[in-house]
Amino acid sequence: MNVGIISTGRYAPKLVLDNKRLEQLVDTNDEWIITRTGISERRIIAPSREMPTPEYCKENSLNYNEEMWKWLNETENVYYMGKMAGENALNSAGIKKEDVSLLVVSCNSPLFVFPSQAAILRKMLSLDNAEPWAITSGCTSSIFHMKFIDTYLKQHGGTALSICPDALSATVDWSDRNNCVLFGDSAGAIVFSEVKEGGIQSYILGSKPSFEIALRTGLENQTINTNPLEFSYKKQIERPYFYMNGNEVFKFATRIMGGSNDYEGVIVEALKACGKTVEDIDLFIPHQANDRIIDAALKRCKINRDKVARTVDRYGNNSAASIPVALDEAVQEKRIKKGDTIVFAGFGADLSYGAAVVDWSY
Ligand code: UT7
Repeated sequence: MNVGIISTGRYAPKLVLDNKRLEQLVDTNDEWIITRTGISERRIIAPSREMPTPEYCKENSLNYNEEMWKWLNETENVYYMGKMAGENALNSAGIKKEDVSLLVVSCNSPLFVFPSQAAILRKMLSLDNAEPWAITSGCTSSIFHMKFIDTYLKQHGGTALSICPDALSATVDWSDRNNCVLFGDSAGAIVFSEVKEGGIQSYILGSKPSFEIALRTGLENQTINTNPLEFSYKKQIERPYFYMNGNEVFKFATRIMGGSNDYEGVIVEALKACGKTVEDIDLFIPHQANDRIIDAALKRCKINRDKVARTVDRYGNNSAASIPVALDEAVQEKRIKKGDTIVFAGFGADLSYGAAVVDWSY
């Protein structure tokens, strides 16, 4: 049995934060951001109201449970983005919700440790027959999904919905120019099922965590004030921030993607695992963190520049969402046809890394 991709979907918030607006918030400039990262603008969620608290509901004789679901379903938040992307992917495949047997969710910016992201989205999407799995591996999450879903569906059959929503705007320090200029919010979704032709061919996964050099964030993302244009500094500094040593992540990323003297890199490794070479690539979909990291991978692996999907200029780094969002954009733009070989490669928090090769089935 072959497991492959049968449809994709995405959601991006309407609020666009371009580099010029960022210049008003923090000591940065358009030229620095473009030359160092390739990012011109990013999307940011803007919840229309604050999340209800148990105290607020009690004072106003409201049912807290009902108010929470209403808030999650009606305001723009990280789970709302996931729901919209998931619905888009199911609709474009014409899949009924009752036919989804597996839901896999990754979110690096959840509002709760539990209920899990998967449990929340299962309810929001009314996926009553789906097993909810939350598997989060930084920005590489969508590639981890591919291996898990491939293995699971080969054993159990059925249809899987993978959703990666992320809103790092809620976790970064909007006064720290080293980090806040890099990230954006969005959600991507992919539907997997048995396919007659093509499908997932190979995957390589791993991680090398480090508390010192890499990425980490606290759990206290309860305070919602994600719109940097209405930035409330006092409110944000009360909780731990997202931390990243960008230079170290940069070095790690270029080596892991494109290889070095003693290592061939995940792209070549994943291709070799299914008997292919870089010549077979029809479309390369890398994690969208920085144009310079993407370009280094293209150069080191000798991949033609026309064969890469790029969204980093308009979306910034969308964390776990970046690969599925770039995939959905490529599908919408009809850059992929049946039989094409697509290579996905990513890296990120956890210092996770991975690559997967998928032959397109439709
Ligand atoms: O999903 C994975 C997550 N993360 C990543 O992929 C990040 C990987 N790392 C990177 O993309 C790059 O390392 C950065 C974009 C984060 C930084 O680029 P860089 O070329 O490594 O710059 P740098 O950190 O070495 O900083 C160079 C200069 C510094 O000034 P001095 O010390 O040379 O005077 C910084 O203070 O640029 C300064 N700088 C800025 N200037 C204007 C840093 N951030 C900014 C900014 N605007 N936003």
